[in-house]
Amino acid sequence: MTTKTTRVVSGIQPTGGLHLGNLLGAILRWVRMQDETECLYFLADLHSLSEYMDPAERRSSVREMAAALIASGIDPERSVLFPQSAVPAHAELCWILNGTARMGWLNRMTQWKDKAGKNREGASVALFDYPVLQAADILLYQATHVPVGEDQKQHIELTRDIALKFNADFSTDLFVVPEPYIGGGTAARVMSLRDGRSKMSKSDPSDMSRINLTDSDEDIAQKIRKAKTDPEPLPDSADALDGRPEAQNLVGIYAAINDESVDQVLGRFAGQGFGTFKPALADALVALIAPIRSRLDELRRDPAELDRILADGAARAAAIGAPVLVKAKSVVGLTD
Ligand code: TRP
Repeated sequence: MTTKTTRVVSGIQPTGGLHLGNLLGAILRWVRMQDETECLYFLADLHSLSEYMDPAERRSSVREMAAALIASGIDPERSVLFPQSAVPAHAELCWILNGTARMGWLNRMTQWKDKAGKNREGASVALFDYPVLQAADILLYQATHVPVGEDQKQHIELTRDIALKFNADFSTDLFVVPEPYIGGGTAARVMSLRDGRSKMSKSDPSDMSRINLTDSDEDIAQKIRKAKTDPEPLPDSADALDGRPEAQNLVGIYAAINDESVDQVLGRFAGQGFGTFKPALADALVALIAPIRSRLDELRRDPAELDRILADGAARAAAIGAPVLVKAKSVVGLTD
């Protein structure tokens, strides 16, 4: 994917307190993709309305997340970075696509089923409609590729179905049918440092379970020193880590930081214990996080500059999306 005829669009829900799981799971892939093609990245604040969030927390999370993305290497000059709600065309196109999406399609979405659980009657309409807004995010910019994790693939499939049905119903080729994109190098599913079977999460009550982008070098070293492991030495192949979730997690983290495979890492550490591996991992983590932490500090001290960057991103995004919305309105007969 190296030509300029490709365009990447992706969004991330604003939650305060970014951690290593967000960084290695999504953000560093976004950063690497900037070298491959034109990228639009947004803070999905409209999506966040699908579940209750304190308004002050929503406001601060959007800024915090934007700062963390820039600190991690999203370059707002090269890429277009903006809050979703600052470009009203997302909501407008979503409403148009609501005429195309089918109840039956949305009813089959596993994220809807998981999040609504047994209480469908009490779930918000926005939670049900979430995938249609996601389709609008993508189709508005005629994205060719959408970098997402495994859990979002079904939403990309739905976006394709909506694009195809809209194009067929209105005899147009307006919408580009996007592909999920599994590129940008190694992405890791980062697990809790206390339990290798549950995902690293900002909602885990134990701060020792995660590495935050704001952790000091000492915090990081201590968390890795105390991370749960097993008494066995490291094996020489990835397969031999099966059934050792904590070991698998730590080696996976190391591999993702270095953009290497687990087998490559084990090639160097096979036969060694955690007494050797953990300090190497802590060093790699400190080298990764320390510069991000200090850029984040700077950005936090200048909220006006951050707002300027986001307003500039929103203006550029609006300009890219405008012709598509104009055409969509005309194709369905809202305008001439
Ligand atoms: N649903 C995505 C997630 O939870 C976030 C998202 C919203 C998104 N709109 C998008 C991702 C458009 C890619 C493209 O991760």
